[in-house]
Amino acid sequence: MHIGILTGGGDCPGLNAVIRAVTLALINECGARVTGIERGFLGLLTRSVRPLGLREVQGILAQGGTILGTHNRCDPFHYFGADGADCSAQALAYARELGLDGLVVIGGDGTMSIAHRFEPLGLPVVGVPKTIDNDLAHTDRTFGFDSAVAVVAEALDRLETTARSHGRVMIAETMGRYAGWIALEGGMAGGADMILLPELPFSVEAVARLCAEREAGDGCTLICIAEGARAAGHDLTVRATLADSPDPIRLGGVGQWLQQQLQPQLSSEVRTTLLGHVQRGGSPTPYDRVLATRFGYHAAQLVRRGEWGRMVTLRGEDCDSVPLSDVAGKSRNVPLDHPLLAVARGLGVSLGEARA
Ligand code: F6P
Repeated sequence: MHIGILTGGGDCPGLNAVIRAVTLALINECGARVTGIERGFLGLLTRSVRPLGLREVQGILAQGGTILGTHNRCDPFHYFGADGADCSAQALAYARELGLDGLVVIGGDGTMSIAHRFEPLGLPVVGVPKTIDNDLAHTDRTFGFDSAVAVVAEALDRLETTARSHGRVMIAETMGRYAGWIALEGGMAGGADMILLPELPFSVEAVARLCAEREAGDGCTLICIAEGARAAGHDLTVRATLADSPDPIRLGGVGQWLQQQLQPQLSSEVRTTLLGHVQRGGSPTPYDRVLATRFGYHAAQLVRRGEWGRMVTLRGEDCDSVPLSDVAGKSRNVPLDHPLLAVARGLGVSLGEARA
């Protein structure tokens, strides 16, 4: 058996742990040959591959990023290198030339959508869900999320001490696209006074009032805001649009926007920290190393059993899988009845809601 592995979309802590687990399990349990495809689907078009053996995956468990490289704009069905032309036949022909029996694709919703389109063309695929955003449908967790939450929590710990010393309002903006998972869990872990999520458009008046109340009590205010959050009646804050990308909108800047709204209403200083790619870099947490290893092992089992066209999932404590068609192009938001929202409200952590 000859299996290809690729990592697509943005990178994320734990990718190397999956590559290692898939490679080790396929080699140890069924003597398979494993080939790494470089820079996501781009490697199938540029013919950039490398063999993966026991030696190649040694010592990569705790390494951030991906040893194979990735690409977040390469969709062979709309290839940016050929003015958006469909180059899938070229990618397919190269996979056949390599003699690949199938692909293990590690990525987010965009990557799963592309992988799903290769299936009917005769290139069988197994998917492994990755993203720090934790927003993939049908899995309770994606690896990388815990590592991002740890970064946010540590950042808030650090911002709190300086905010308290100066009596400031500190705004920390997290990643997460249209889902508030990172801001919610990171904000709770870091003791934020206010957590603003894409799922709950906030009231600027309510936010300003809480900051003013805390200011009157000589307190500082720690606000954790998701990049996809927006004030009620306002649009998303977009940093850039990438015309030829499967995920063309880059969010970012809502923290700065909120600072501009709050500052005229407060006497204490309002400052913003954009946490940015710090959340995506570096070594995965132990939880993510184990989850990524379990996902990689489970993906190898699907390959061994010939259960193609499925993506590995985590349901409660157990690894399972769902058809790729169920996840392609879908995302998962924080449900408004999520228990952690009730905990936040119960503890007096504001979610920016207008008072009744
Ligand atoms: O999906 C992961 C993610 O890190 C998002 O949270 C963020 O909006 C986006 O990727 C940033 O992408 P890029 O690295 O291309 O700016």
